[in-house]
Amino acid sequence: MDKLLVKGNKRINGRMRNQTSKNAVLAMLAASILTDKEVIIRQCPKITDVDNMAKILVELGCKVKWEGDSLVIDCSSAHRHEIPHSLAKELRSSIFMLGPILGRFHKAKVAYPGGCDIGIRPIDLHIKGFKALNIDIDESGDTICCDGKDIKGNIIHLDFPSVGATENIMMAAVFAEGTTVIKNAAKEPEIADLQNFINAMGGKISGAGSSTIEIEGVKKLGSVDYTPISDRIVAGTYLIAAAITGGSIEVENCHPEHIYSLITKLRETTCKVEYFNDKIYLTAPKTLQSIHKIETMPFPGFPTDLQAQILALMTVTNGTSLIVENIFETRYKHVAELLKMGAKITVKDRMAIVRGVPKLYGANVYAYDLRGGAALVMAGLAADGLTQINGIHHIDRGYEDLAGTLQSLGADIKRIT
Ligand code: UD1
Repeated sequence: MDKLLVKGNKRINGRMRNQTSKNAVLAMLAASILTDKEVIIRQCPKITDVDNMAKILVELGCKVKWEGDSLVIDCSSAHRHEIPHSLAKELRSSIFMLGPILGRFHKAKVAYPGGCDIGIRPIDLHIKGFKALNIDIDESGDTICCDGKDIKGNIIHLDFPSVGATENIMMAAVFAEGTTVIKNAAKEPEIADLQNFINAMGGKISGAGSSTIEIEGVKKLGSVDYTPISDRIVAGTYLIAAAITGGSIEVENCHPEHIYSLITKLRETTCKVEYFNDKIYLTAPKTLQSIHKIETMPFPGFPTDLQAQILALMTVTNGTSLIVENIFETRYKHVAELLKMGAKITVKDRMAIVRGVPKLYGANVYAYDLRGGAALVMAGLAADGLTQINGIHHIDRGYEDLAGTLQSLGADIKRIT
């Protein structure tokens, strides 16, 4: 198993180009099954979540290949509507395939995904949405069987603006008879990008990015050549890396408006943050101020996917900060690891109280999930001595060469096998 070795106390300094959005791309890979024409995803990030989603497409009979940094997908020969049990259990994102498989084949079968390291992650909202579209669902045992021979548009009100449920329902409704309206839809930028992607293939979706999305059923979709939006979480991670090391950074290929919530909080720490077009610039002070309170919320609130990284930053600020994690119930696995590095954090239910210390020290730590792993790298960058991060296959799920990029920015970090 590969590990990362970080020798701390080196300032991050320089310019980097941000990758495209993992969550946008995963949804687009799922949506590719809706067409039998060619799909090209430009600047597709080379991360294992993409490889794994591609594996599912291949399993369904599609052809997937890399051409430089583009992923080319041909689903004309797709013939299976069933995701094998082993793959579905291994890959949570298989649940995103239900909607598009239903759209294409009017039936779908997938194993129940179960929980993961950040929470229980039920799929009741996906299922309720499908039922409202006149899809018959049999959930007996460990498998979800969907029969959608008569999919009809409807008005669906989500109890919570779930990203996955919004996307899944959008994709299932692309070929439904009539119009589907999703109310209290998730407003994340990746959903608007999915809408633009499907519309570029000939779909008729409007409203994504707001809380009401309308999907007018169409008969067929065509080909698409698309460049997804940039990854707001990866951009945020590098900004935090610069902040925690007292450094400065220019992140290119960003949508600053997608991370205003983070920019505001970084300014509270007295970092100087500016943006212009697709670039964000950050210069950190010598001493960071604590942040009064951060609560994770659906977009445009503070993203849960940046909670671990900002928590790592809080550990070295001058004062006490409070984090409330409202989205996932057990998303504090990184805290026990940060404690090994000398951080002072108390967790109670969904709340973490972080008392800043002057310095962290290196330790042997374990990444239990993707963003928690990134947070440990951030902490290692700021610590005295050597930090060894194990379990970095989690980090590879979402960051394209995190170690290489940080190294190019002046960090002392290497990957060892
Ligand atoms: C997506 C993102 C993930 C991000 C999350 C929240 C992808 C591939 N993943 O995950 O990176 O952290 O949004 O921004 O895009 N819930 C239910 N019932 C459901 C569905 C969700 O109770 O049927 C709950 C979940 O348990 C969780 C909350 O709703 O507590 C948010 O989940 P959701 O927005 O669905 O997250 P994901 O789509 O799984």
